[in-house]
Amino acid sequence: GHVAIAIDGPAASGKSTIARELSKRLGLVMVNSGTMYRAVTWKVVKDGIDAENPAAVAEALEKMNLQCGVDGLDSTLTVDGIDPGEELRSQEVNAHVSHVAAVPEVRRHLVDLQRSYLQHSDVIMEGRDIGSAVFPDTPYKIYVDADPSVRQGRREAIGEIDSVTDRDRKDSQRETDPLKVADGARVLDNSGHTVETAVEAALEILIQ
Ligand code: CDP
Repeated sequence: GHVAIAIDGPAASGKSTIARELSKRLGLVMVNSGTMYRAVTWKVVKDGIDAENPAAVAEALEKMNLQCGVDGLDSTLTVDGIDPGEELRSQEVNAHVSHVAAVPEVRRHLVDLQRSYLQHSDVIMEGRDIGSAVFPDTPYKIYVDADPSVRQGRREAIGEIDSVTDRDRKDSQRETDPLKVADGARVLDNSGHTVETAVEAALEILIQ
């Protein structure tokens, strides 16, 4: 069977950068599961649906055609045939995504899509619940953390003004598959790392 490497952690911990670097070095397909939650949120917001109404979100999901695929080592995604691109990182999506991601029907559907990647290839997948809920049996689990001030600073440096800690609180407190350190995961504190030393630390964890 195929192998999954699970990279989880809070917002702006640097997990995407580490996952992308690992994907290049190991030649594995990289999937950012947050993109899927953002895509559902983008469509919900675009259609004027109340993101804080779980029943309305679940109903909207039923009608959505979410397609995930692979292009080289990257993953691809369309919603009703459209790739939302940069709009996935809008302030509006940031503000609503944790509500949408807390809806059990949304999680069930996206976890199925995430697992389906393993039918075709090995993957590095990053998110909040990859080691705990999506691929609980994989031996390769890293939880990337960093000090809240470091994380907020990273987002402000790229022009995002939303509070990452606010999103972390919602992600940690939801009932279904909350953000947490998965059983068997090793914690990588990324606060004082450069990209280079963080990737070295991640590789060290994986070969142990
Ligand atoms: O990159 P950033 O840390 O800002 O977030 P992301 O990985 O794009 O994820 C955006 C949001 O999607 C998170 O704040 C969670 O609410 C949700 N998410 C989730 O619930 N489960 C995942 N496996 C990944 C993301």
